[in-house]
Amino acid sequence: MAEEIKILVVDDEPVIIRSCEIVLKSEGYNVEGALGGKEAILKMEQNSYDLVFTDLKMPEVDGITLIKWIKQKRPDTGVVIITGYPSQDTIKDALEVGIIDYVPKPFTPAVLADVAKRAVEWIHKKTPVEDIEKEEEFPPSMISEIDRVIKEYKDKPGSAIPVLQRCQGIVGYLPPEVQKRIAKGLNLTPAQIHSVVSFYSFFTMKPRGDHNIRICLGTACYVKRVEESLNKIKADLKIDVGDVTEDKKFSLETVRCLGACGLAPVMVIDEETYGAVTPKKIPEILKDYA
Ligand code: FES
Repeated sequence: MAEEIKILVVDDEPVIIRSCEIVLKSEGYNVEGALGGKEAILKMEQNSYDLVFTDLKMPEVDGITLIKWIKQKRPDTGVVIITGYPSQDTIKDALEVGIIDYVPKPFTPAVLADVAKRAVEWIHKKTPVEDIEKEEEFPPSMISEIDRVIKEYKDKPGSAIPVLQRCQGIVGYLPPEVQKRIAKGLNLTPAQIHSVVSFYSFFTMKPRGDHNIRICLGTACYVKRVEESLNKIKADLKIDVGDVTEDKKFSLETVRCLGACGLAPVMVIDEETYGAVTPKKIPEILKDYA
C-alpha cells in the first residue's frame, strides 16, 4: 500500500526535505521535494500527490496560501504541516483551512513515520463523517446529554474543542455519528470537526481500553531508544498503535512529547507516568494493570 502513496515535501530548508525523504522513502513512500510554495504549486499542476507536508513560513508563497490553493484545486490531497513551536493562532489558521496533522520541528524519524501513517489512514477514510446515514445506537440519555452540551456552547466562538472534550467524556470516544451531530449543532461542516478530532491527540475516534498507554516518540525519548519498549509492548499485548487488546484492557497510542523529557524514555498509563522505561521493565509495569 505504501508504495502507491505519493508525498510532496515543501520547505525552504533543503535539509528538512532531505531528512523527510530519507525517512519517508524508507517507509516505502514515493517522495518529492519543493523548496517553496511557488515550486509546490507548479509541481502540483503537473502531478498528483496523495499528501503534502508543508512548512508554514516560506518566502513568496507561504504555507497557508499554499494550503488554501490545495484545498481549492486539489481537495483530495491531504495536508500535514511541518512547524516549529506552533502557536494557537497558527494551528487555528491551519485547522480552519483543513490540515490533518502537524510534524514538530525538530522531528524524529519515528514521529514523522507515525504522522505519515496516520495521514495515509486519514486520506483513505476520506472524512467518513460525511457518509454516515444511520445513527449509531446510543442510549437516549447519552444523546440528550450531548445535545445539552451542544446547546450550552452553540453560539460561543471557539466552541468546537470544549464541546468535543465534553462529548468524549460522555461517550468515551468520538465516533463519526457523534462528530456529525456536533457539527450540525454548531453549524460547522463535518470535515471541520473531523480535522479538529484527528489533529489533537487527546481526542480519539476509537474506544479506548480500560487502561490507555501513551508512549512518547519525541526527540529525547527517541534518542534513548523508546522504540524498543514500544515494540515490546506491541509484542506482549499483540496490538498495534491505535488498537485495543481483545479483552479491552489496554489501548496503545503514541505522542510527540509528554513534557517529561528529563525522564526519557517516558510512557504514561492512564494518569501514571513511567520514566526511564526499557523493554525489560515493560512486563513488570503492565502486570500492575492486569
Ligand atoms: S520527548 Fe518524550 S517526554 Fe519529551
